Amino acid sequence: MATLANQQAKRPSGVLPDRWQLTLRDRRATLRLGERFGAMLPPGAVLGLVGELGAGKTTFVQGVAKGVAVADLRQVLSPTYTLSNEYPGGRLLLVHMDFYRLEGADSARALGLEDTLGRVDTLAVVEWADRAPDLLPQGSIWMHFQYHPGELRRVQVQGCEPPTGFRWSELDPSVPGW
Ligand SMILES: Nc1ncnc2c1ncn2[C@@H]1O[C@H](COP(=O)(O)OP(=O)(O)OP(=O)(O)O)[C@@H](O)[C@H]1O
Ligand SMILES: [Mg+2]
Repeated sequence: MATLANQQAKRPSGVLPDRWQLTLRDRRATLRLGERFGAMLPPGAVLGLVGELGAGKTTFVQGVAKGVAVADLRQVLSPTYTLSNEYPGGRLLLVHMDFYRLEGADSARALGLEDTLGRVDTLAVVEWADRAPDLLPQGSIWMHFQYHPGELRRVQVQGCEPPTGFRWSELDPSVPGW
């Protein structure tokens, strides 16, 4: 996704990371990260978001929506009952799914959710994607949000390069759980 020109100079080795982590100090940081992704990801990109209740997944999607420049940011809420919302008006159609209430991958297929994921000219973001990981196409970006009491969150990203402009000093590849 991002050009790495800026980071290359600051990193100890020239090897691109296949997974990386950021500390999100408050809600605004999560929104900013989402905004960056929303502005830069290519058509057809699929993001699988993982993390417990309150970890910041929906907040991140609200940032993505801003980056995509969807028409009405007030509509960007977790699609808990419908499982899928679509937000038009931006550079891509933003598809926002939430698998929390999904009853198995088969029911998702029956609802046609799988066909929507990766559709050209969309950017798809799926909360609780780990409930039906097989529905996400190969090449999806996975983001694990870690809840911490207070405003601190951590996010671990796999499947894309870090966007430009984030401080490498905040990365910590030695986090347990990888
Ligand atoms: N660093 C942070 N990043 C994101 N949200 C934060 C942060 N710090 C505090 N918050 C607060 O935590 C809450 C996160 O809620 P959010 O709906 O984004 O979580 P979620 O992961 O989507 O949960 P759910 O699984 O219930 O859908 C919000 O109230 C937000 O204001
Ligand atoms: Mg949510």
